[in-house]
Amino acid sequence: MDKLILEINKRLNSILDDYPDSTVKDAMLYSLNAGGKRIRPVMMLQVIRSYQQDYHPYIDVACALEMIHTYSLIHDDLPGMDNDDLRRGRPTCHRQYDEATAILAGDGLLNEAVNIIIRAHLEDKMTIDLISCLYRSSGIDGMIYGQELDIQNENSSIDTDTLQKIHKYKTGKLLSCALMMGAIIAQRDDIEIWEEIGYKIGLAFQIQDDILDVTGTTEQLGKPAGSDESNHKTTYVHLLGIEKSQQLADQLFNEAVELLYSLKINHGLLLEIIENIRKRVS
Ligand code: IPE
Ligand code: IPE
Ligand code: MG
Ligand code: MG
Ligand code: MG
Repeated sequence: MDKLILEINKRLNSILDDYPDSTVKDAMLYSLNAGGKRIRPVMMLQVIRSYQQDYHPYIDVACALEMIHTYSLIHDDLPGMDNDDLRRGRPTCHRQYDEATAILAGDGLLNEAVNIIIRAHLEDKMTIDLISCLYRSSGIDGMIYGQELDIQNENSSIDTDTLQKIHKYKTGKLLSCALMMGAIIAQRDDIEIWEEIGYKIGLAFQIQDDILDVTGTTEQLGKPAGSDESNHKTTYVHLLGIEKSQQLADQLFNEAVELLYSLKINHGLLLEIIENIRKRVS
C-alpha cells in the first residue's frame, strides 16, 4: 500500500509540472502535497489488483480521483462552508494563500481531473464510463448535493434518516465511486456490489469522522477538532452518542466485509484497507 501511495504522489506532482508556473498551480500543489491518506485512489487501484490485473496504466485515473477529493476539501474549508483554518496538518488553502486563490485551486483540480482521464490513452468506452462515474458521484447527484444538504441543515436538529442521507451523499458517493472505477477498469459486472460496499464503508468512514471530531486532538487529526460543534452540525455523536456510533460503524464495516466475500476476487487487498480504516485515528 505504501508503494501505491508513493506512486500516486509522484505522479500527482509530475502531472502539474507540465503547466506554466502560477500561484493557483502552487496552491493546488500545496494542498495535494499536504499528506492526505490517499484512501480513495488506493482503494481504486486495489480493486484492479484484486482481479489480478496490472494497475500501472491507471495511476492517472487514481490521481484524478484524488484531485476531486482534494478540491472538495479545499472548498469544504472555505469561510462560506466550514470555515476551518487547518487541513492535513497545515494552514488551509485559503489561509495560506487567499480565498480567491483557494477557490480557483479547487476549480483547477476539478478541471484537471477530467483532462488527465481523457489523456490516459484508455479505450473510448472506458474513458467515458470513468468520467461519467467520477463526475456523477462528485456532482449534484453526489458529493456536491451532500455538501449542500450539510450546509442547509446547520443549526437545525435532524433525525438519523436525514443525517444518513447527508453522509451517503457527501462522503459515501465518492468512496463508492473509487471502488466502482476499479471495477469499470477491470471490466467486471460486479459494479452494483462494489457500490453497496462503498456506501457501507463511506457511511462508517463519516461516522468515524464525526466521532474523531469529538475525541481526537487537532494535532492528531491535522484539522481542527470540534469543527462540527463550532458549525452547529448535527452528527452521529449527537444522535447516538460515541459508543453507539462506534458500534454502528463497526457493524457497517462488518457488512462491507461480508459483501466483499460475495465477490470472486483476491479479498486480502481490500480487507487490509478496511481494517486500516477501521483502526484509523486521523
Ligand atoms: C476527509 O477525508 C473528508 C471526509 C470525507 C470525512 P479523508 O479523511 O480521507 O481526508 P484526507 O484525504 O486523508 O486528508
Ligand atoms: C466533508 O465532511 C466531506 C467532504 C465532501 C469534503 P466534513 O466537513 O466533516 O469533513 P472534514 O471533517 O472537514 O474533513
Ligand atoms: Mg463539511
Ligand atoms: Mg469540514
Ligand atoms: Mg468532519
